[in-house]
Amino acid sequence: MLNYEKIKNDFPLLNKQAQKKPIVYFDSACMSLKPKQVIEAMNEYYFYFPACSGRSSHRLGELVTKKIKEARQIVANFINADEQEVIFTRNTTEAVNLLANSLDLKNEDLVLTTDKEHNSNLIPWQMLIKKKGIRHEIVKSKNDGTFDFEKYKELVKTSRLVSMVHTSNLDGTTIPAKEIIKTAHENGVLVFLDAAQSAPHIKIDVKDLDVDFLAFSGHKMLGPTGTGVFYGKYNLLEKFEPFMVGGDTVEYSTYTDHKMLKAPEKFEAGLQDYAGIIGLGEAVNYLEAIGFDNIREQELELNRYITEEISKFPKIKIIGPTNPALRSGIISFYIDDMDMHQVALMLDEMSSVMIRSGQHCVHSWFNDKKIKNSARVSLYFYNTMEEAEEFISGLNKIIKIL
Ligand SMILES: Cc1ncc(COP(=O)(O)O)c(C=O)c1O
Repeated sequence: MLNYEKIKNDFPLLNKQAQKKPIVYFDSACMSLKPKQVIEAMNEYYFYFPACSGRSSHRLGELVTKKIKEARQIVANFINADEQEVIFTRNTTEAVNLLANSLDLKNEDLVLTTDKEHNSNLIPWQMLIKKKGIRHEIVKSKNDGTFDFEKYKELVKTSRLVSMVHTSNLDGTTIPAKEIIKTAHENGVLVFLDAAQSAPHIKIDVKDLDVDFLAFSGHKMLGPTGTGVFYGKYNLLEKFEPFMVGGDTVEYSTYTDHKMLKAPEKFEAGLQDYAGIIGLGEAVNYLEAIGFDNIREQELELNRYITEEISKFPKIKIIGPTNPALRSGIISFYIDDMDMHQVALMLDEMSSVMIRSGQHCVHSWFNDKKIKNSARVSLYFYNTMEEAEEFISGLNKIIKIL
């Protein structure tokens, strides 16, 4: 059971009002709120030990080194990885770029994605088509938005890398990752999972999944902005050439040569966002104390209610499966020929309900389907039934006006 008194105290924004109405924040898939504990951990760094990690041997430097090591351990435990397999990045996007630029993909190598990739897991591969002549194929979803395993089984046979969004930010569907990975490995194919929308909502166990690479963003799971993680199996990381190099990536250098450090250091070039990494460790602690069962239960209850209510509007179409249990904390909807930006703006103006509208960086899907855009509600455990009711009541008023 979640303790909403405590949650409200931990997330000050939840006590704020806009135009005399409590703020309803339904945009966590873009950016989650941050609890006080995360902000305090970051402030502590800035106030009391704002030094470098891994370089300076004075007491402040040593303290930062210790805190970064602790944060890496917390994150490693969170996904059941080993410490040296956790590379800190600025976000998921940077992690995918790291992968695309470090894996030795060659001419004609096939990268297999879904049809619902965020631009972050699409554009890096499109760049490699231009630069290296790799190939890209798409496993198109079934009509109800779920994963087409039969099509996948055919296409994976000739692939080099499967690079797929675990939980979609477009419609909230989650692909059957374990089966996908097993089948890929039977065909000698590597797998990367974009876990930007799954890591905040479901338990990720990289060993159980047996996934080769995985990435997520701290800022979507209570962490500071501009924090992220790239995970890779150590034996694979060892073979990687880092794509960003310089300070902190080498053991030594001469005027003509250098010796590279091992993973994860060789991938973390230059001074890092130490406050952010420490805050990310604290975010993971907070999330684990909340518990994924509680997160799932709350999101599902709200998603069920919102789906049921939205389905009463004859013109509104929900993207993805009708069953809310298959859509994580997401309800993405549209009305033919209507600009959903207008709906989102009016919800904010009239009800202080904040949702996202647009193509959610999945332009390719919208262009293919010839759908203008959608309005997206994305929930997290700190959202309540009262907020869901406020949203539905606001939407009712807007639909009448429009
Ligand atoms: C599924 C998915 N992948 C990747 C990203 C990119 O995340 P970031 O902007 O933190 O790199 C997002 C962000 O919305 C996302 O939802």
